[in-house]
Amino acid sequence: MNMTRFTRWRGLVAGVLAAGGLISLALVAQQGSVVSSYGPTDQTQTFEQIKAGRMAVKAERAKAHADLLAARYNLDIKTDPSAKMSGGKALPVGPTAKLVGVTWEQLGKMTPAQIREKGIFPYPPLPFPDHAEGGMLFPPMTIKLLPRLVRFDVDFDLPEAVLPDVAPAIYLTTRPDLGDVAKGRVITINNFYEIFNGILNPKQIEGLRLLLTQFPQQQFNATEDRRTDRADGMLGVTCFDCHVNGHTNRATHLVGDIRPQEFRHRINTPSLRGVNIQRLFGSQRALKTVEDFTEFEQRAAYFDGDICMAAKKGVNVLERGSQVHFMAEFMEILDFPPAPKLNIYGELDTAKATPSEIRGEALFNGKARCISCHPAPYYTDNSMHNLRAERFYKQELVDGMMMAHDGPIKTFPLRGVRDSPPYLHDGRCLTLEDTVEYFNLVQQLDLTPQEKSDLTAFLRCL
Ligand code: HEC
Ligand code: HEC
Repeated sequence: MNMTRFTRWRGLVAGVLAAGGLISLALVAQQGSVVSSYGPTDQTQTFEQIKAGRMAVKAERAKAHADLLAARYNLDIKTDPSAKMSGGKALPVGPTAKLVGVTWEQLGKMTPAQIREKGIFPYPPLPFPDHAEGGMLFPPMTIKLLPRLVRFDVDFDLPEAVLPDVAPAIYLTTRPDLGDVAKGRVITINNFYEIFNGILNPKQIEGLRLLLTQFPQQQFNATEDRRTDRADGMLGVTCFDCHVNGHTNRATHLVGDIRPQEFRHRINTPSLRGVNIQRLFGSQRALKTVEDFTEFEQRAAYFDGDICMAAKKGVNVLERGSQVHFMAEFMEILDFPPAPKLNIYGELDTAKATPSEIRGEALFNGKARCISCHPAPYYTDNSMHNLRAERFYKQELVDGMMMAHDGPIKTFPLRGVRDSPPYLHDGRCLTLEDTVEYFNLVQQLDLTPQEKSDLTAFLRCL
């Protein structure tokens, strides 16, 4: 970019920022509050002023959110030591959602209108811990290993028992003979080379290096408008800060493309395992390639979809041919975890499965109709569906979020699903049992307790 273009571009950015500032001021005047529909950004304040403003509301917002979670869920999570994620962590057991004045069986027999009228749907959308603020937010288990990811203004909300392994296993489609390559280690810029040199080609190694390199984003950058105190936090975040070991720690964020703020969906970091068999990327955006999503993440998602902020805070524009492709090539060899009970069609091998798992598969393919969206072998139809969960609840503002429609959402593959609680695009179902209750209601299946437990047993095999 030559100097004249650069100056003109900066002028444009400054102009748009100034206009944004005026609109925010107008909104402040109108609403008498400091939260505009543009989020909290205010270019006229110093870092100390912005931080003081955030700290002034931190405790009150955290309490409102903790109250909401306590009202919706039993957060004293039970685990099943006999059922493990592939990295060795015990599976959380549910259902964790609290019911108000009904049993699961009674709820299953009610119509959507009756459930909506009584206000007793257990799985409305899950708000972000501070929904008016948003931004990237990391669970404490990851922050303990990577302290640069701490935000001073918001804390992660869900218990560690309903999150994936802290250092998830890594399986490579190119070297299945190696099994788990991570072996309990979190892969970072400090150790990747010694672990992967000789297993990857130089192009994939370079892609992995980029996936592990910090780049500035909305909350982690060097400007006054940041949410980190740490000098190392100002360098930014890496792709694998959320997609830890190519899987996920279920770090959370607000989706970039919905406005106003209260309508934005909380989003749950998806695993990158099995992106090779997927054809749609992002829960709602449906970008068509891993390469596109890689560029999109750093250019726009990192900045809440605000291209002017991106320019100011130091967006790193990746070069398609020599960087994006390399990153994608590495992501495309991340395999699902082994599923020893499945045959080459992705169906249960009846010689290895229990009677409950076999009944669960028959339900999945029959009465429960899961198969119509989740066909074997990977249990996704690579499409999107509108489950219209809003049939079950009223549109109202709760904890800073509008309980509104989800719209069409991508069918996540269910291969390896036991490894990635909490579930759905926003994490509202904390366990597999909760997802079964969710679909029992959404599809109006009226399953018996035995059928529900058989279905869960089957999901654990995938
Ligand atoms: C703050 C955590 C975070 C960081 C950092 C992050 N991602 Fe993501 N990633 C997400 C979330 C959340 C989604 C789901 C987005 C949605 O639902 O619209 C996602 C989705 C994806 C997907 C699509 C997966 C699918 O199954 O649809 C790919 C590919 C991806 N990210 C790659 C990357 C790359 C490459 C980087 C680094 C440039 C990166 N991510 C950085 C959280 C993160
Ligand atoms: C009409 C299509 C459809 C049917 C039928 C369906 N699903 Fe899904 N499934 C989806 C979509 C779409 C999502 C993502 C929804 C979201 O994130 O809000 C999903 C998500 C899930 C998830 C969470 C995956 C994750 O990684 O978060 C599980 C588990 C699941 N489905 C199991 C089932 C079971 C079990 C059944 C049958 C009882 C079923 N589904 C029936 C479309 C469907």
